[in-house]
Amino acid sequence: MSFPRFFQHNNKFLTRIDFSSFLSLLGLDFYSCSSFNFMRAINSFFGIRRSLALSSSVMSGGKVLTTSNINPNVITMQYAVRGPIVIRAVELEKELANGAKKPFPNVIKANIGDAHAMGQKPITYIRQLLACIANPVIMETDKSIPSDVIENAKTFLGSCGGQSAGAYSQSTGVEVVRKHVAEYITKRDGGIPTNSEDICLSGGASESIRNVLKLFINKNDAKKVGVMIPIPQYPLYSATLEEFGLGQVGYYLNESSNWSLDEAELERSLKESSEKYDVRVLCVINPGNPTGQVLSRENIETIVRFAQKHNLFLLADEVYQDNVYAQGSQFHSFKKVVTEMGAPYDKIELASFHSVSKGYMGECGMRGGYVEFLNLDSEVYVLFKKMISAKLCSTVLGQAVIDAVVNPPKEGQPSYALWKKERDAVLASLKERATLVEKAYSSIDGISCNPVQGAMYAFPSVQIPAKAVEKARSLNQEPDFFYAMQLLETTGICIVPGSGFGQKDGTYHFRTTILPQSDLFKDMLTRFTKFHNDFLAEYK
Ligand SMILES: Cc1ncc(COP(=O)(O)O)c(C=O)c1O
Repeated sequence: MSFPRFFQHNNKFLTRIDFSSFLSLLGLDFYSCSSFNFMRAINSFFGIRRSLALSSSVMSGGKVLTTSNINPNVITMQYAVRGPIVIRAVELEKELANGAKKPFPNVIKANIGDAHAMGQKPITYIRQLLACIANPVIMETDKSIPSDVIENAKTFLGSCGGQSAGAYSQSTGVEVVRKHVAEYITKRDGGIPTNSEDICLSGGASESIRNVLKLFINKNDAKKVGVMIPIPQYPLYSATLEEFGLGQVGYYLNESSNWSLDEAELERSLKESSEKYDVRVLCVINPGNPTGQVLSRENIETIVRFAQKHNLFLLADEVYQDNVYAQGSQFHSFKKVVTEMGAPYDKIELASFHSVSKGYMGECGMRGGYVEFLNLDSEVYVLFKKMISAKLCSTVLGQAVIDAVVNPPKEGQPSYALWKKERDAVLASLKERATLVEKAYSSIDGISCNPVQGAMYAFPSVQIPAKAVEKARSLNQEPDFFYAMQLLETTGICIVPGSGFGQKDGTYHFRTTILPQSDLFKDMLTRFTKFHNDFLAEYK
């Protein structure tokens, strides 16, 4: 995007306009340009503004903190999952609620992995446990609450300061929950011992991921620390790396072999970035977001050997470990694989993450997650704990949800049958939708979709006709952004353009979740197919 000349020469004028008026002076509104062009606009705007001497707004009694003196990394970071298309989707919802006539009855938010927002019902056991912990009096008054729930709530409260969820916990989390997490991991990994001291609870996995990445910020090094992340990736990573001033080192997943990781591509990516960055971290998302693949054990072993060979710290984002649907696919934790590979691989430094936001529970709003460390230097761990202690602790009710997830009812207990029924129903329905989505998209002309082996997303590739690409460019939009915005305006379906996650040049994708409930999901696929065929006809 280029700016009108007078902007570049008339700095005094620029200091007096605010940012939104600047955008409107450019004839842009927030959602009418792709996020990429939008950021280019912002960056070039701030390039101009930063060259000004002391902020004239401060001198003239304006704001102390302005967009011209804010941490520049906050300006350049982006998070596509909640970008301009979602902002427009929310507007459309409001317009519909106010009686506006649209060619669709409702907005379908297939942009974000938020199961409850798409109608999934909470698991009874989790909410009963939470209710008892939040309001202990109901353990006496509500006779419908099963005895095992009451027992578990009492155990939890017994580990809280003053027996109340209103007390701060240790920074690493409520002790009994960490113990339950350790037992859960040991059981998951077939008996490999886990030490509860290696586990830290957090407000969602995001907080743990950011905490661990923070350890790699080193402003004194000549080169930035580089972090290898998959492309396509979940934008928490690109956003956090940008915010922390760390270097993003992308390695492409192989779309033609269902988004697997190629060793040669890992080597290429590392080699090409080594001059620029001191690459010290390799991040893997398994099962994948946005790509929905489940890595085979063999593939994980290849990754581990690569990490060991190049002395990399492994970050294993395993928040979708319960979301595996495809026949023959199985979740293998990095911890289990490195441990079973033996020396020297079992000495690899590993941080693995899990969350209550995904799986069968989908409790995104409760903000519960944890990190388990393996082979972390003991002095580093002391410093890590010091760092997180400055934030006191994560929400204790969020920790209660983690407890419910890692310590569910056992066979024979009063809550077990209902818990199992509800969990199995959610997972069976997700599995059905995972199959449906692949079949539906693969049958559409110009779209191809890999099998959704796990997680909650499909990431189909879409051939956008040359005329539509031209039209998008004329609007200063990325073609996949243009496609996604047209889809939203025509059908009410909100998806995320592939450019928000990264994709090979010249290819276009979009991410859709499989979370809308069955009827809505089928409706979505019908609306989508019609839109796509009309789009092809219009731009062929
Ligand atoms: C791969 C991945 N990691 C981490 C997260 C963050 O999860 P949480 O809600 O626990 O912060 C998400 C959320 O969508 C995700 O997809």
